[in-house]
Amino acid sequence: MTKPRIYSGMQPSSGSLHLGNFVGALTHWRQLQEEGDAFFSIVDLHALTSIQDPKVLRQQVRTLAAQYIAGGIDPQSSCLYVQSHVSAHAEMAWLLSIITGFGEASRMTQFKDKTAKKGIEAANVGLFTYPILMAGDILLYDTNLVPVGADQKQHVELTRDLGERFNKRYGETFTIPQPRIAAETARIMDLQDPTRKMSKSAETDKGIVWLLDEPSRTLKKIKSAVTDTDGSIRVDAENKPGVTNLLGILSAFTGRTTAELADEYDGQGYGVFKVAVADAVIGELAPIRERTLELLDDPAELDRILEANAARAREVADATLHRAMRAMGLR
Ligand code: TYM
Repeated sequence: MTKPRIYSGMQPSSGSLHLGNFVGALTHWRQLQEEGDAFFSIVDLHALTSIQDPKVLRQQVRTLAAQYIAGGIDPQSSCLYVQSHVSAHAEMAWLLSIITGFGEASRMTQFKDKTAKKGIEAANVGLFTYPILMAGDILLYDTNLVPVGADQKQHVELTRDLGERFNKRYGETFTIPQPRIAAETARIMDLQDPTRKMSKSAETDKGIVWLLDEPSRTLKKIKSAVTDTDGSIRVDAENKPGVTNLLGILSAFTGRTTAELADEYDGQGYGVFKVAVADAVIGELAPIRERTLELLDDPAELDRILEANAARAREVADATLHRAMRAMGLR
């Protein structure tokens, strides 16, 4: 049996990954790369929708590459590359935009969330067509599985719809992908506002654990996580979102179920519980932080890895792009 093709990506839109990206995506990627033929991209074309400074973007691309590798992605066996190095992505987005309904694109909740504050008039068109570019990313690689957090589910569903529509209209061209979303870590919440997902676009970063935060800062952020006054430690997302989120995080870092952990820590008080969460998080993240900083000391080597992998990605992506173009009557 051939191995499943795995595809996923993250935006280089901040100076570091956060705990949500790590637990919701990266930990699953590194597991899946063992079972499949994996492509992991740094989606810099997507990040252009929010970053205007070229120096910042370039630096963040390298930082993200270093974090992928330090976090366990093996750039020898998995294809770790930068989206803009493969021109087929931009071309495929155009082809797919032709079969995407305006109303369909308007229903994407991330677009609605991202434009809620400043209004639709202030948004760029790229932010609107963003999910189409993402659909192209996935379809270009004949992807079977897309490991992502819950916030990307709707985009993967759009990808499936577009792939099926294209196949129906122009003949079998694309593999139809499945999202792979791990229930317990699908949505890590902000430590200061556990009713909102942890997100780089939050107003303050007090509730965000960055993978490049110093361990002492991580400890402080977790100790000050917002909980409640009832004192018990149990899973109850509605009434105890803070405690439930911390249980989810501890579960992700220990491999134990939230129910088991709730049993163990209930009655010990929030202070003890939070220190246990911080210890588990820091125990895993501190070496990743150090390795990232080491890798960033040698940017030429990072660039070399990214360039070599881009050549491999181009081969696969160009073949699919040309297939789609021919199906549509181009070329
Ligand atoms: P991005 O860069 O916002 O997030 C990267 C990954 O992290 C997951 N994630 C979370 N998981 C759990 N809890 C959270 N609080 C949390 N925040 C983020 C996301 O679900 C994602 O898996 N559009 C995508 C990038 C993209 C992509 C793709 C992904 C572009 N092309 C093709 C997969 C396949 C995005 O903005 O992810």
